Amino acid sequence: TQGRIIPVTPEELSKHNTRNDAWMAIRGVVYNVTRYMDFHPGGVDELMRGVGKDATKLFNEVHAWVNYQQLLNKCVIGPLKHSKKVEK
Ligand code: HEM
Repeated sequence: TQGRIIPVTPEELSKHNTRNDAWMAIRGVVYNVTRYMDFHPGGVDELMRGVGKDATKLFNEVHAWVNYQQLLNKCVIGPLKHSKKVEK
């Protein structure tokens, strides 16, 4: 089952920007993608471009159709606080 859901500020998000501590916001939700890193079909370097930040635009540019919600179902940290309205 999913653990505690914690709202994340952009400041907190930006601290998790390394290979072994990688968070990423997509469309208003923050995910811990550390465990997913080695399974990303686009590779580690590509995924690393989006860590520690709102990667919605990067994500959409490459593969807006990918069902990340299902892939990262167990990796939700919580909603991104103080974000602009959810980007589409
Ligand atoms: C490919 C998932 C984030 C760059 C893929 C594919 C999946 C995937 C499933 C294969 C798509 C296909 O073959 O049709 C994810 C998930 C992400 C994520 C779940 C969020 C955590 C990103 C980010 C970038 C990126 C932020 C770039 C900054 C790429 C690239 C490919 C790719 C370049 C294409 C690789 C190729 O065709 O050789 N990703 N991705 N991805 N991803 Fe991601």
